[in-house]
Amino acid sequence: MMIEELHEDHWERYRNIRLAALENDGDAFGGNLESERLFPESEWRSKARQYIALVAVVDGEDIGMMSVENLQGDFGATCWVGSCWVNSKHRNKGALRALFEYLDSVAAQRDWLIQGLGVWVDNALAISAYQRLGFEKVGEKQESTRKPGLYYQRMIRKTPTT
Ligand SMILES: CC(C)(COP(=O)(O)OP(=O)(O)OC[C@H]1O[C@@H](n2cnc3c(N)ncnc32)[C@H](O)[C@@H]1OP(=O)(O)O)[C@@H](O)C(=O)NCCC(=O)NCCS
Repeated sequence: MMIEELHEDHWERYRNIRLAALENDGDAFGGNLESERLFPESEWRSKARQYIALVAVVDGEDIGMMSVENLQGDFGATCWVGSCWVNSKHRNKGALRALFEYLDSVAAQRDWLIQGLGVWVDNALAISAYQRLGFEKVGEKQESTRKPGLYYQRMIRKTPTT
């Protein structure tokens, strides 16, 4: 398994894996498949600049992704991780872990040392995977602005400094 960082010029790969995530596991995300399907190239390019996509590649196929946005977030976060998704055929084989290992390897120079994320409070599977990767729950549950009536839990992780 290889981890690649997608440059803006790879916006079609970014679009394809993001839409696959929304098609297969739309309930896990705040985004909306119907509106993202209609995004023009300029919108994907803009997303690719703001939310750096890391993808896991197996035999030339993009099978997992996460996005990383530099921002000053809650609880000291220096970046916010989103869009975590792994193709169901490739789950539980370390793809998400490999994405975080790549993130850790460049965290100091990219200001990604303290990562925050939000996960739906009832997504127990993802919450336990994040905990295995070193995330801890922080703060009270928050109501989603994009999906009112749904609540998310914030979690924080620090890149190990050994
Ligand atoms: C959550 C998700 C990204 C995990 O990806 P993955 O590649 O299967 O995860 P990994 O194989 O790298 O596992 C990472 C750690 O989480 C643990 N883990 C993975 N799946 C788990 C599960 N179903 N239950 C408990 N722990 C789990 C693994 O054991 C591993 O810990 P370990 O290395 O100490 O054993 C994947 O299940 C997914 O895409 N789910 C649907 C979309 C989603 O819910 N995304 C999260 C949005 S916030």
